[in-house]
Amino acid sequence: MDANGALLRWYRPRRAAYPWRTGAPDPYRTLVSEVMLQQTQAPRVAAALGPFLARFPSIAALAAAPRSDVVRAWGALGYNRRAARLHEAARVTVRYHAGRLPPDPAQLQVLPGVGPYTASAVASIAFGVPVAAVDTNVRRVAARFLFGANPEGVDRTQLREAIDRWLHRREPGTWNQAVMDLGRLVCRPAPRCDVCPLAAGCRFRASSRPRPRARSQPAFRGSWRELRGAIVRLLRSRPSATLSSLAGRTGRALHDVAAAVRALDRDGLVRAGPAALAGRPSGRLRLADEPRSGIVPTGTS
Ligand code: ADE
Repeated sequence: MDANGALLRWYRPRRAAYPWRTGAPDPYRTLVSEVMLQQTQAPRVAAALGPFLARFPSIAALAAAPRSDVVRAWGALGYNRRAARLHEAARVTVRYHAGRLPPDPAQLQVLPGVGPYTASAVASIAFGVPVAAVDTNVRRVAARFLFGANPEGVDRTQLREAIDRWLHRREPGTWNQAVMDLGRLVCRPAPRCDVCPLAAGCRFRASSRPRPRARSQPAFRGSWRELRGAIVRLLRSRPSATLSSLAGRTGRALHDVAAAVRALDRDGLVRAGPAALAGRPSGRLRLADEPRSGIVPTGTS
């Protein structure tokens, strides 16, 4: 059997592993799940997707909601800027695409929070457009299988072109998700070649290189991201808060809290009053109901 045949056969029972793959593909559900999957592991997205879609069943419902509702419904997923950008993307879609997500990856990529990877994932999964969704995992699978090397050892353009040739053009969404699953579960930094459907033809396995060590994630505790997340979490359960109360509850210095609040305000997640923006302890903020400026399609930044 050829490699793609083996890959798709391996994937078939896995299709039902996640709720965003059940039934007929739906562009809105695909967009929401892919944005959630940008920085959150699949099992956590699997738990969060249903409640989010129940609260905002359509792109029009999401666009019509206040920003604060969307950030609250994002729940424990973290990286809350994604919620603000997804909300913005829904509004852009309603205003400029009559509420229907476009199938063209170039047009999808103009939506806030949608980069090349997410645009390709949505286009291929929801619309069957033959484009590869290339992230770190997919790059690792392809570099190893096709070139017998880890991705750092392969020219980026050559790798991209080889992935485009390898893509299953009749089932691009299925193929993309199969390679994503393979990269996450099997062809990990320390690979599990014994259970890999591509092992027979894999150049990396044939070359029996030393196994790479898994890289660790940057520290989260005490980080800027942790502080931003804590502030949003505190504001979910109260109408507003002062900088000094946030400093007390997070145990962080007031000037760090003020800087985080300014960034959250800039990103459209919170609305801080002038005193809070100036860093005064009594300055108040709350979750934003509306972004400060109108709709500006910006892609990812
Ligand atoms: N990671 C990102 N998108 C995914 C998807 N659709 N299925 C599985 N893992 C993913």
